[in-house]
Amino acid sequence: MTEWQKSNWRNKPRVQMPDYTDAAALAKVEAQLSQYPPLVFAGEARRLKQHLGAAGRGEAFLLQGGDCAESFEQFSADAIRDTFKVMLQMAMVLTYGAKVPVVKVGRMAGQFAKPRSAPTEVIDGVELPSYRGDIINELAFTPESRIPNPGKMLQAYTQAAATLNLLRAFSTGGFADMSMVHSWTLGFTDEQDVQKYSEIADRIQDTIDFMGAAGITADTTHEFSTVEFYTSHESLLLEYEEALTRLDSTSGNWLAGSGHMIWIGDRTRQPDGAHVEFCRGVLNPIGLKCGPTTTADDLKVLMSRLNPENEEGRLTLIARFGAGNVGEHLPRLVKAVKEEGVNVTWVCDPMHGNTIKSATGYKTRPFDSVLREVRDFFGVHQAEGTIPGGVHFEMTGLDVTECTGGVRAVTEEDLSDRYHTACDPRLNATQSLELAFLVAEELTNLRRDRSKRAVS
Ligand code: PEP
Ligand code: CO
Repeated sequence: MTEWQKSNWRNKPRVQMPDYTDAAALAKVEAQLSQYPPLVFAGEARRLKQHLGAAGRGEAFLLQGGDCAESFEQFSADAIRDTFKVMLQMAMVLTYGAKVPVVKVGRMAGQFAKPRSAPTEVIDGVELPSYRGDIINELAFTPESRIPNPGKMLQAYTQAAATLNLLRAFSTGGFADMSMVHSWTLGFTDEQDVQKYSEIADRIQDTIDFMGAAGITADTTHEFSTVEFYTSHESLLLEYEEALTRLDSTSGNWLAGSGHMIWIGDRTRQPDGAHVEFCRGVLNPIGLKCGPTTTADDLKVLMSRLNPENEEGRLTLIARFGAGNVGEHLPRLVKAVKEEGVNVTWVCDPMHGNTIKSATGYKTRPFDSVLREVRDFFGVHQAEGTIPGGVHFEMTGLDVTECTGGVRAVTEEDLSDRYHTACDPRLNATQSLELAFLVAEELTNLRRDRSKRAVS
């Protein structure tokens, strides 16, 4: 294969990308972004790759989560804090279940561009280009709003930089103290309708108390008071990605400087397409969404293209089939990976195959379908003897009403109360935490089952 260059994707067929009409304005923005500092450092991306490699071996577990689409209008410190906070709570509960470190990766600080199922949208007989995320155009349904504007890339960069700055401050500045994180969770499990999770929460508290008595506290132990938190987004808008790509002088490799991990979406994973071409040449960990239309042959080509050196942690396969479809699709892809004998980290995205339209007209996802897909994912890996390496959720720390169900049931009638997503429906804070408790149960069962098998 010819030597990779960061602009080579321009010679490949591209889908889901805007046609910018003002070429001069686009070139100016690209030139500007090319001079800005990268948002992440190559050493961090390599470290995340090691952690993801561990998740692929069952020695760690990935929690990836955040907005479907970050928005300019809803950008606030509180929203970032609340999502970060819930992810730490979830991570603590998952650590309890998995008994391995949980790798925390936000869909944050760059998750702005969206693939769409149709190029145009029709409302009351008026047809306009689809909204493609705040980095490209605007949600308002007017002809001007829907024109792709390259200047929005600069605002996205600024927002991503400020978001990452706050996340870095939260990660090391005392906010992530384990005993504090758990006290938030205890507050949640005190409430009557979620008391069924209090046993796990109490056991975590016992462990924290025991460690405290043994002298392991936030004051004495670095790991107790800081977390590693990474960022990720779909690598969709390749002009933005290319402009932030930098040569890592220590290794001589290229880094996508827009975030620690980038992924290829279900609609842009054509083996000979622009998105695969861009991603194959950067050193970051790469995610690849696998859906019902992913064939075993395509997957084999994609694995060899995206991970020719068979590095551990380089390729995360994010399965998103929909509840009830996992058994039909996941086994054939798991077998394709086994046949090739390559390293991948399998992760479950139980969101994107479970989007439905409610009777009240809102795009939603039933909590039960989300949970069922996670359970089916674990079931297939157990049957195939492979490793479920993590979960990928669309979620927020805010109290929204976008997905139905959960123990504090959101009904279809409730959806209109606080439906704020710029794109797909997200789990709210309580639904996210509840899901973490349920996934922790799955992980506990898996662990018990494995040690039983090891003994017998
Ligand atoms: C997403 O993760 O927001 C997304 C669009 O997913 P997929 O490519 O799997 O549909
Ligand atoms: Co989405």
